[in-house]
Amino acid sequence: MNNFNYWTPTKVIFGKDAEKQTGALVKAQNCKKVLVHFGGGSAKRSGLLDRICDSLKAEHIDYVLLGGVVPNPRLSLVREGIALCKKEGVDFILAVGGGSVLDSAKAIGYGVVTEGDVWDIFLKKVEPAGCLPVGSVLTIAAAGSEMSDSSVITNEDGWLKRGYSSDYGRCRFAVMNPELTATLDEWQTMSGCTDIIMHTLERYFYPAHEVSGENMITDSIAEGLIKTVIKNALILKDKPKDYNARAQIMWAGSLSHNGLTGCGNGTGDWATHQIEHELGGMFDITHGAGLAAVWGSWARYVYKENPERFAQLARNVFGISDTDSEKAALKGIEAMENFFRSINMPVSVKEMNIDLTEEQIETLAFKCCFEKKRLVGSFRKLGYEDLIAIYKAAAK
Ligand code: NZQ
Ligand code: ZN
Repeated sequence: MNNFNYWTPTKVIFGKDAEKQTGALVKAQNCKKVLVHFGGGSAKRSGLLDRICDSLKAEHIDYVLLGGVVPNPRLSLVREGIALCKKEGVDFILAVGGGSVLDSAKAIGYGVVTEGDVWDIFLKKVEPAGCLPVGSVLTIAAAGSEMSDSSVITNEDGWLKRGYSSDYGRCRFAVMNPELTATLDEWQTMSGCTDIIMHTLERYFYPAHEVSGENMITDSIAEGLIKTVIKNALILKDKPKDYNARAQIMWAGSLSHNGLTGCGNGTGDWATHQIEHELGGMFDITHGAGLAAVWGSWARYVYKENPERFAQLARNVFGISDTDSEKAALKGIEAMENFFRSINMPVSVKEMNIDLTEEQIETLAFKCCFEKKRLVGSFRKLGYEDLIAIYKAAAK
C-alpha cells in the first residue's frame, strides 16, 4: 500500500426529505447572496426548484436564479454565471441538479474569484485563486461531482471538453435524497450506473510497479462497490422506483469518486475517461454511455500489461473461476460488457448511432493526446497510435 492523502470535507445529508434542510444548510454558510444554478427543466418540472427556493426564503436568504445547464455543460453559460455573480454580489453557489450543474457551478466559482479568462484554468495555463463555496442538491447518481474535486466543461469554440481538479472545488455540502432520482429515465439511470462503476475501475487499474504490496482494504471496497452497482442497476431495470436500490446506487456514486476507492493505489488510469471526453466534445453524447462504448476496447488493448489484475476483477466481481489469468481476464472483460448490454448500454461507438470516419478517429486521437504532447493513462501509457487503435476498435 502506498502513502496517500484522503480529504473529504463535504457534509452529506442523505435520505428521504433531505432537501428540506437546504435553507438551513445554506444559512450556516453565512453568505449574503446565493446563486441557485440548475439545468434544463427537470428540477422545475418536479417542483424541486420551488421547494428549494421556499426553503431559502424561509431562512430569509437572498438569491438569484440561473438555469439552462445542459449535459456536457457549456463554457458560455459559465461565463454568463460569472458575470451575474459579480453583478449581484453572489458569495455562495447552490447547484440543484446533476454533475453538469455541479461542474458548471464550480467553474463559475473559480471564475468569480480568479482574474482573467476562466477557460485558462481548464487549459491549466492559470491556477485559480480559489473558488466561491458551492453546495449541492443532487438529482442524479452518476458523476460523483458532489464529493469529487473535479469540474468538466465544454468549450463550444472548438468543442473541447476539459476537466480541472482542485480541492477548492469540493462541495461544502451535498444533499442527497434518492427519491429525487426516481424521475430519471432508464437511459440516464444506467448511464449513471456505468459512470459510477467506471470511476472505480479507473482507480483499480494502476501501473503494478507503482504500488507495493497487496491493498486488500481498497480492493475489496472497490470490488464491493462495483458488485453493489451491478446488482442494484439490475433491480432498477425491473423496478425503476425501488427506493433502496436508488439509495445504494446514489451512495456508491459519491464513494466511487471521492477518492476512497483509490486510497493507497496512486491516482489510477483515467484513459477511458480521456477517450470518452473527446467523443463527448465532438458528439455531445451521454458521458456514462460513452464510457461503456469504449471501455471494452481499452481493456482488450491494455490487459496484457497485467492480466492478473484483470483476472482479479473477473474472479472477485463476476465469480469467474478460470485459473489461467489471461483467460480469466478476457472473460471478465466480456462479463463487464455483457452487464452493459443487459442494462441497454452501448458497447461500441456504432451502437451510439455514430459511424466514425477515419478522419474523425484521427482528430479524436490527436485531441486526446493534446496534439501528441502527452501520453494518456497509466496502466499502459497510450500515445497517438495507441489511441487510434482503441478508437478504431470502439468504432465497430
Ligand atoms: O437538465 P435537466 O432537465 O435537469 O436534465 C438532466 C440531464 O438531461 C437529467 N436529470 C438530472 N436529474 C434528473 C434528470 N431528469 C429527470 N429527473 C432527475 N432527477 O439528466 C440529464 C443528465 O444530467 P447531467 O447532470 O448531465 O448528468 P451527470 O451527473 O451524469 O453529469 C454528466 C457530466 O458530468 C461530467 C461528465 O463529463 C458530464 O459532463 N463528469 C464530471 C465529473 C466530476 N465533476 O467529478 C466526473 C465524471 O467522470 C464526469 O466526467
Ligand atoms: Zn465519469
